[in-house]
Amino acid sequence: MRAVIVREHGPVAQHRLETVPDPVPARGEVLIEARAFGVNFPDLMVMQGSYQLLPPRPFSPGKEVAGVVGAIGAGVERVRLGDRVMALPEYGAFAEKVVVPEAICYRMPPAMPFDEGAVLALAYQTAHFALLERGAYKRGETVLVTGASGGVGLAGVQLAKALGATVIAGVTSKEKGELCKRHGADHVIDLAAPDLRESVRAQVQAAVGKRGVDIVLDSVGGDAFDGALRALAWCGRLVSIGFASGRVPEAKAGYLLVKNLAVLGLQWTDYRGREPGRVQRVQEELYALYGEGKLKPEITARYPLERFAEALARFESRQVQGKIVLLP
Ligand SMILES: NC(=O)c1ccc[n+]([C@@H]2O[C@H](COP(=O)([O-])OP(=O)(O)OC[C@H]3O[C@@H](n4cnc5c(N)ncnc54)[C@H](OP(=O)(O)O)[C@@H]3O)[C@@H](O)[C@H]2O)c1
Repeated sequence: MRAVIVREHGPVAQHRLETVPDPVPARGEVLIEARAFGVNFPDLMVMQGSYQLLPPRPFSPGKEVAGVVGAIGAGVERVRLGDRVMALPEYGAFAEKVVVPEAICYRMPPAMPFDEGAVLALAYQTAHFALLERGAYKRGETVLVTGASGGVGLAGVQLAKALGATVIAGVTSKEKGELCKRHGADHVIDLAAPDLRESVRAQVQAAVGKRGVDIVLDSVGGDAFDGALRALAWCGRLVSIGFASGRVPEAKAGYLLVKNLAVLGLQWTDYRGREPGRVQRVQEELYALYGEGKLKPEITARYPLERFAEALARFESRQVQGKIVLLP
């Protein structure tokens, strides 16, 4: 079979699609014949060697795959041969055949196309745990999403809207704002504006009033984080999901104290490892919302697997809107 292989960390252009032996599922494992792969910002960091979790080399990158179960190991109980599934491995998804533990395999709804199945996955799980588990969202609250036109961001916009929030999307262009509005954002603010530290609060207050927002889902960090923290309402929660801007921000405890604020971290992979049953239940909730038409992945580009480097380069040049899919 063919798989993307990282032999040494480095720029995406240096990695190759190689022919390697087919994997064989061991006890408790499932072999998926891939039909579509989702691409995420962290894939780029893993290939470059700058991500917090790095597999031993050589390895195949990729965190999202959808396909058909082609073989199962002994002791597999929930998944059957021929099932249409999505899986969320830490790495190894960018291969024509992918072996994963049964625990991180999710049965897709029957009518769901494989490309949508591959991306209604990590970004949506991340947004769900950020909003409901870390952010302790209550129906009717106001939610600001930074990086709202990106993978995690747009999932957050859709999910918050589906669950009854007033949603503010933080984006860097008019076109990206329109995309977020189509996916449920009630208001759009400009994260390309000067002096974000002050201007995020001013824009948020102009949109929803002086009180500010109850929850921020922040996958940008840097100046967007600094500004969003100041836009929180009394007892507001900011969930730090990522640092797409490249700067890891800091929050002053004095500022948190005087407004009863909370800044919370989210590393979704921990839930997958520690509470796989809960991640399964969240995936079922996401599929139910998809079935009701409340979640709809926005796939803006599709590439054949051999052009994976072009797909990943779009994250570097900040050209990504919604999700990108690779096809074997
Ligand atoms: N915590 C977790 O468990 C977890 C899980 C998945 C992902 N993540 C992290 O979440 C982040 C987003 O991942 P993703 O896959 O959604 O990436 P993505 O699709 O590339 O989205 C990133 C978003 O950030 C925006 N952005 C980048 N630099 C910016 C800046 N300086 N100012 C304002 N906006 C900026 C981009 O907007 P423009 O297009 O306008 O540049 C884009 O909308 C990454 O840091 C990733 O590592 C964390």
